[in-house]
Amino acid sequence: MTTTQQPPGTSPIGRDTKRIDGARKVTGLARYSSDFNFPGLLYAVPVEATIANGKLLKLDTSAAEKMPGVRAVFHRGNIGQIFRSTPAPGFERVCLERRPPFEDDVIRYYGQYIALAVADTFEAAKAAADTVRATYSKEKPNVEAHLEAGSDPDVVFTGYGPVPRLQSHRGDAEAAFASAPVKLDETYVTPPETHNPLELHSTTAMWDGQKLTLYDSTQGVVNMRGVLAQMFGLAQEDVRVVAKFLGSGFGGKLYPWTHVPLAAAAARHLGKPVKLVVSRRMMFQTVGHRARTQQRVRIGASRDGKLVSLQHDYLYHLSMIDHYHEDCGEATPFHYSVPNLRVSFGRARRNIGATADMRGPGAVPGLYATESAMNEMADQLKIDPVKFRILNEPKIDESINLPFSSRHYVECLNLGAEKFGWSKRNPVVGSMKRDGLTLGWGMAGAAWIAGRFAAAANMQLRDDGTVRIACATQDIGTGTYTILAQLASEKIGVPLDKVEVDLGDSALPDGPISGGSLATSSVIPAVFKAADQAITSLLIVAVSTPGSPFFGHKPEDLALEGGRIFVKAEGVAKGVAFGDVLRQANARLVTGSGSSEQTAFAPNPKFSMHSYGCHFVEVTWQPEIARLRVSRVVSVMDAGCILNPLTGRNQIQGAVVMGIGMALFEETTYDPQNGAPINSNLADYIMTVNADAPPIDVHFLDYPDKEINELGARGIGEIGLAGVAAAITDAVHHATGVRLRELPIKIEDLLTSA
Ligand code: MOS
Repeated sequence: MTTTQQPPGTSPIGRDTKRIDGARKVTGLARYSSDFNFPGLLYAVPVEATIANGKLLKLDTSAAEKMPGVRAVFHRGNIGQIFRSTPAPGFERVCLERRPPFEDDVIRYYGQYIALAVADTFEAAKAAADTVRATYSKEKPNVEAHLEAGSDPDVVFTGYGPVPRLQSHRGDAEAAFASAPVKLDETYVTPPETHNPLELHSTTAMWDGQKLTLYDSTQGVVNMRGVLAQMFGLAQEDVRVVAKFLGSGFGGKLYPWTHVPLAAAAARHLGKPVKLVVSRRMMFQTVGHRARTQQRVRIGASRDGKLVSLQHDYLYHLSMIDHYHEDCGEATPFHYSVPNLRVSFGRARRNIGATADMRGPGAVPGLYATESAMNEMADQLKIDPVKFRILNEPKIDESINLPFSSRHYVECLNLGAEKFGWSKRNPVVGSMKRDGLTLGWGMAGAAWIAGRFAAAANMQLRDDGTVRIACATQDIGTGTYTILAQLASEKIGVPLDKVEVDLGDSALPDGPISGGSLATSSVIPAVFKAADQAITSLLIVAVSTPGSPFFGHKPEDLALEGGRIFVKAEGVAKGVAFGDVLRQANARLVTGSGSSEQTAFAPNPKFSMHSYGCHFVEVTWQPEIARLRVSRVVSVMDAGCILNPLTGRNQIQGAVVMGIGMALFEETTYDPQNGAPINSNLADYIMTVNADAPPIDVHFLDYPDKEINELGARGIGEIGLAGVAAAITDAVHHATGVRLRELPIKIEDLLTSA
């Protein structure tokens, strides 16, 4: 399937390695969830509420039920019981909209599912869904953009447990701010953003007696298994979730949404497999979005640029009955040294679908606000923004008084400045020109969590010299298949094309969600332990099989290198390929299992563990025609050991592209009359396309973080988005003189400058 990419005997770790599934993807052999078809398959199309606040009084399904090819129209009266799943401690059985579909007749957001048409073809199901008539009692929906804190208690319940609204504090932030020689007090606003992965959400559900199987576009097969088992009152082992390939998800696919139990319930009633593909419009309504945030940042500093006070008080919106916490204050307490600090939040409920994780949840909008404020403060102080950050570099994590496991933020800043040519920056607004264009240069820092989820893996070493590694994590598209192949290749010493990787099936050993940028760091110890156990088993076969070249040796006298078993005292040159030893023993394979515990979010950490980075951005500005472009980006990331720089750079580049969208394009707009997302399609919801994407020069520092796992690899899926928007808005200010504090920047905001 793939070609050997490294010379024999050299480590694949840290080497540019193409995706091993690339050929399958570009030739169409990779099967995404909605590509699986089964005999007797039926198609389901949900009916969406066309109000955002009120009650469903009457549902007329009679005409729809009589249409050709229609098998059933399900609704509250006939769907049967779907139980509420219950939260578990940690990241288990997470579900961001807990209310089972059709549970009551209250409509809380536009597009909420009120019925489900099932038919022999997609077209018949769609026609039937469109024919269902609903009668409502309507109230005016609250989709107000301006946020004010609701009346929440001091500790709020969230999907991840109770969270105090005074999130972090030290010293006396208010008094220190009041007496600070230089002050900044600004509010930054980020809009609701909608996940728009290419692949739509989809579920194909089927039953075999009491056993439920789902082919689902999920970032977490194990989590979904747990949630769906509860929703149908099943034992966990009676549910299987398969997700072989994902056309990305950006966090929207981390946890199951309401269409999943609907498909499962329909399949149970009809005794046939049922496929439900969420439409692009529904993607804006029922499968999560990034919350709107409104963040007040107050900074007090001395005239020589030392922070004396930092207050970050933020608000976010959430749906009427869910609990998702948009943790904008995640990075604020440790990012800079400051003796007086307060981070707090409030929440505002809206008639909008559930909010959810979206790439760099919390920290990405949070760092947009705090890094923007840092740039504005540097400007006030007339100190270079890079220097201002370095001046306030902490020695330890001051919020928890713990050392950093590995932090090289200052080196990121210095290297970024050097690669970008920052020393040539003239800070005077509009002063830099090239080819008749005004240039704007801006920068910002980044941080993101690091740690591990629990993971288990199984390895086979087989008599044909191949290796299989299996884990119930999944490849969201970023290269998890390739990373596991590299890890197996590293331990066994066979080329990548001798490694088969099996992911995306909850029947495999439990693996982590493809989330939090933690999948890679989580699987390393499990894969390595599985390999060690398989090798031990192999060596026992080698010494215990009569006729084996190693018969009579002790296992501890032997080793495996380059796929060959050898006597340590004799050296690898006299080794024998492990497949030969297995064949000689008439053994098809040996296996090994390994697992490791969750360390992320653990109660008593020994270190503060994060990744760091920064972005330097150039924009070009043509005031005559109000044309703004991001023309160049340099990003530096300190994310531990980089296992695969090729896919790693892809990750950061993709995130920077998304950051350009965050700064300049992306925004979900709700109609104040009916509460509908207005721009719920790819023509009106503007995202960065190739023509908007500049050259993005990515550098990794590559310091292994030995506190996280054997290889010192953290994660890189999300950090690349953190800070990009703040760097862009700073560059826009440098070019135009306009300071914008509400995203996305619109061209009309810049017309004041000429
Ligand atoms: Mo990421 S938002 O944890 O998929």
